[in-house]
Amino acid sequence: MATAVNDLNVPHRLLLGPGPSAVHPRVLRTMSTALVGYLDPEWLALMDEEQDLLRAVFQTANALTLPMSGTGSTGMETAFCNFVEPGDTVVIGCNGYFSERMCEMARLYGAKVIRIEKPWGAVLTPAEVEETLRAHRPVKIFALIHAETSTGALQPLTGMAEAAHRHGALFLIDCVTSLSGVPLNIDEWGVDVAFSASQKCLGCPPGLSPFTANERALRLLHARKTRVPNWYLDLTMIEKYWNKERLYHHTPSTTLHYGLREGLRLVLEEGLEDRWFRHQAIAEYLWEKMENLGLKLFVPREHRLASLTTVCVPEGVEDATVRTRLREIYNIDIAGGFGPLKGKIWRVGLMGFSSRRENVTLLSEALREILHGRN
Ligand SMILES: Cc1ncc(COP(=O)(O)O)c(C=O)c1O
Repeated sequence: MATAVNDLNVPHRLLLGPGPSAVHPRVLRTMSTALVGYLDPEWLALMDEEQDLLRAVFQTANALTLPMSGTGSTGMETAFCNFVEPGDTVVIGCNGYFSERMCEMARLYGAKVIRIEKPWGAVLTPAEVEETLRAHRPVKIFALIHAETSTGALQPLTGMAEAAHRHGALFLIDCVTSLSGVPLNIDEWGVDVAFSASQKCLGCPPGLSPFTANERALRLLHARKTRVPNWYLDLTMIEKYWNKERLYHHTPSTTLHYGLREGLRLVLEEGLEDRWFRHQAIAEYLWEKMENLGLKLFVPREHRLASLTTVCVPEGVEDATVRTRLREIYNIDIAGGFGPLKGKIWRVGLMGFSSRRENVTLLSEALREILHGRN
């Protein structure tokens, strides 16, 4: 017997957590456009446009620049399953939750993983990287998280690609929480492989993972001794759908691609540098508001990430109670910490369409009322 299910009726939450961020209304509207087939000439033209837009946002000329089907973890898995072969040495900067995920994936694909350990919230220095790479030659990949969403730290990339290349390694970054929210220039900064996610600073729904790899990386891919051990994410096949061959691989989510294309158009309409500036200015407003409330910020100012701020939960305050009140009374969604930071921090995301001054005012007023016992 069929069960009666009510009409979908979800509250309109203000999304100020680590993602998904609020989706821009223009993206939502575009996503209600009628579908076309995956080999329709109209669709093929849209794919080319989407790739051009992505290249502009990544600041790259890489031919292999495309949105992978799936969330940010898909991009991460694409990177490791395509560029790691069993026995390869992979050096990973470990300073938060998402670098642990990188280590796990690299190991799954047979890598010998060398960890550069730092406390959660700290960043790596080029000297530490240089020393580790020298000690473990030959290294196939050196990987970093550019914006660590679990800690709110922004990893400076200066000198990192040079260190990787001096030791013959590919330089790979996770820019899930940085792409279009903080300065990033893939080609100029010497990044060989990078991946991101649609639901953070790009202001689109989750489900696509922008990915880019340069010629250097592709030469290694095409010289593999073993087949890529993942059918769905095998770039040697996927590139044949996105290049001129247009060889079917899997059915893309037309709707999500319409949305991403519109989200990328919005980024470039605003201007990449203006968008980075907006994210920084709105974050600084939040930092000031939090400090005015007597709250401490977890990451020192010089390494603070604009798209995600970590606020220390004050002594005697219960993390989850505050977040529940924010959600139930004010309809505001922020997140707690995890791993060693569980119960110790709140994570406030100001990404894409969520990065707006009025959102910060609302959140800080709500926090003031909760913390000062009004609610
Ligand atoms: C830095 C970072 N890398 C990877 C991921 C994984 O992305 P997803 O949850 O979209 O699979 C996230 C998700 O928040 C992230 O913040």
